Amino acid sequence: MKAKSIIEELKAHHNEMRKLQKEIEDDRSKYIILKKHLDVHHELEEDILLSELHKNDAVKNESLESKEEHFVLNFLLMDLADFPQDNFRWPIKFQVFSEILNHHLEEEEEDLFPEAEKHLSKNKLEEFGARFFELKEKRLKYELQIK
Ligand SMILES: [Fe+2]
Ligand SMILES: [Fe+2]
Repeated sequence: MKAKSIIEELKAHHNEMRKLQKEIEDDRSKYIILKKHLDVHHELEEDILLSELHKNDAVKNESLESKEEHFVLNFLLMDLADFPQDNFRWPIKFQVFSEILNHHLEEEEEDLFPEAEKHLSKNKLEEFGARFFELKEKRLKYELQIK
């Protein structure tokens, strides 16, 4: 099997989460699935890709910005998980969270990922891609209790 670069893997995962985001508009019970995907996505994106980009002065600020946005999103994810889903404010809170999430995903795809592709070798991008894919599958299987 041909290894995919981590950029392809991250974009595919972004699209999977965009799909879940749309589904939650009709079925709030799916929120917890999106939260688990994002928890895993943020952690692996930081551990595998951002920690490497932080070492490079040309991409450092863009990479730190991504990390700070994860911090904000993680806070909103916890707030939404704790807030009663039958409360009239829940969909409004979800809407605000969604706007920030969409901004974050777009910014990574348009600004951060092209920089990463410019500064990391093809081998490294593929090695990171394989690592991301393997850990993501393993963690989500555990988190979502999929057999
Ligand atoms: Fe991402
Ligand atoms: Fe991110």
